[in-house]
Amino acid sequence: MNNLKGKVAIVTGAARGIGAAIAKKLAACGANVAICDLKAEWCDETVAALKAFGVEAKGYGVNVAASAEVDACVKAVLADFGRVDIMVNNAGITKDGLLMRMSDEDWDAVLNVNLKGTFLFTRAVARPMMKNKAADGTQLGGSIVNIASVVGIMGNAGQANYTASKGGVIALTKTTAKELGSRNIRCNAVAPGFIQSKMTDVLSEDVRKAYMDTIPLKRFGTAEDIAKAVAWLAGDDASYVTGQIISVNGGMIG
Ligand code: NAI
Repeated sequence: MNNLKGKVAIVTGAARGIGAAIAKKLAACGANVAICDLKAEWCDETVAALKAFGVEAKGYGVNVAASAEVDACVKAVLADFGRVDIMVNNAGITKDGLLMRMSDEDWDAVLNVNLKGTFLFTRAVARPMMKNKAADGTQLGGSIVNIASVVGIMGNAGQANYTASKGGVIALTKTTAKELGSRNIRCNAVAPGFIQSKMTDVLSEDVRKAYMDTIPLKRFGTAEDIAKAVAWLAGDDASYVTGQIISVNGGMIG
């Protein structure tokens, strides 16, 4: 369980839900974690939970869609923790509606948080990760894990903005892997299926049943199911894995 001991991770959208579960799993594996969300105080609960694992943890208020805030956040994490080894781009929002009625504002808001936010944090951590070297000069690099979605692969009526943002995250993941691979910075995505969370709690019983009918494992996923895949990709057990999209969806699609 200690395979991430001494590593420093940043997890966005980690005040609650899947992000909080990812942060806890990384801490359980020994990582020190910077918890990022819109307001630093929203992170207090996650920070306290992480400290129980005996690691360092701190909350940061940052809007992932705001370039200057992202750069300032990474700078602050470097000042506090000294390095960044793992970046988890998890913050995400939905603003669902049929394409013909979708406003420019709803399109932009979702693309800005889900896709641009992932780009901004990836750009900001790339240089610090490049500088990670062992005492003998070996390039240590880092691991970036983006949270995509099953609907970014298959599309979904009523989610033009969200599916486009997650499809974009998948393409960005593959490009990042190609650009940064020579510095031993790996970049992969986890594409969750239907996960029980605040984001999916709002769906009607009919919609939930329709989803359940498509899931061979006959249960909705948990945030911990996603966290386990992220922790594997973050660590050296996945040292030869990059540019991949790992579906964690109970078999919903192959
Ligand atoms: P959630 O809504 O419970 O949590 C999202 C977190 O991101 C919140 O703490 C929120 O404050 C934060 N956040 C939102 N906008 C932000 C911004 N601009 N800057 C910083 N933080 C921001 O959502 P959940 O379910 O935990 O989702 C996490 C990720 O997993 C998202 O990227 C979502 O798209 C993805 N996902 C979720 C699925 C599900 O079934 N719940 C399925 C597939 C993907």
